[in-house]
Amino acid sequence: MVSIKSEREIELMREAGRILARVHEELEKALKPGMSTLDVDKLGEHIIRSFGCIPSFKNYNGYPASICVSVNDEVVHGIPNKHRILREGDIVSLDAGVIYKGYHSDAARTHGIGEISPEAQKLIDVTKQSFFEGIKFAKAGNHLNDISTAIQTYAESFGYGVVRDLVGHGIGSHLHEDPEVPNFSQKRKGILLRPGMTLAIEPMINAGRYDVAWMDDDWTVVTDDGSLSAHYENTILITEGEPEILSLV
Ligand code: MF3
Ligand code: CO
Repeated sequence: MVSIKSEREIELMREAGRILARVHEELEKALKPGMSTLDVDKLGEHIIRSFGCIPSFKNYNGYPASICVSVNDEVVHGIPNKHRILREGDIVSLDAGVIYKGYHSDAARTHGIGEISPEAQKLIDVTKQSFFEGIKFAKAGNHLNDISTAIQTYAESFGYGVVRDLVGHGIGSHLHEDPEVPNFSQKRKGILLRPGMTLAIEPMINAGRYDVAWMDDDWTVVTDDGSLSAHYENTILITEGEPEILSLV
């Protein structure tokens, strides 16, 4: 069932989103060659807790960290590790979630470490833009598949692979709520969008083919063909008019 949030719930989710936007800003500023992915996680957890929030991901289905840190061909859910060092030219996807007074916000960004290749930068930019292409359709009266189709059409126009095995989701008092939000077109038009619905829309885009594989840690998702992958996610609110992006400042 897809829930419609009350004004009170929306206000709490706005605050969760504002805080998460700040967490991402602070993390982006801190990223440097030589940092380990565990350093990123520790800093992220510290920032989240300093805002009085709880990291949503910590211990979620056994996930051992607060920030998913996924490097280069890692798509999502990379597990922070003190031996995994970020190097100039890497791209790193940071996915974070916070709980504020019982309400979640979920957002992801991909950043370059130092100078990166033009190809890597283009993948990052197109992935981010595919989110914005999708949310042009995130309006009351449209259907969920309008968002999915717009994301796919845009990303594929650059020859990129749109990951099929992972999707976005509803969000609220739980990290994952109904509905699933695919980044690729469905045969069905999906639910009718209504004001008060809150969604985490999160395109995961590969420079090569869309196929992915799971590593032996049972978390880290990698591209099958070894190509780079990028991720961009925000928590949004469906309104009577334009969608409100809760996890951007
Ligand atoms: N943004 C991811 C998602 O929505 C984060 C979940 S990672 C986990 O699924 F570690 F919490 F599982
Ligand atoms: Co998510």
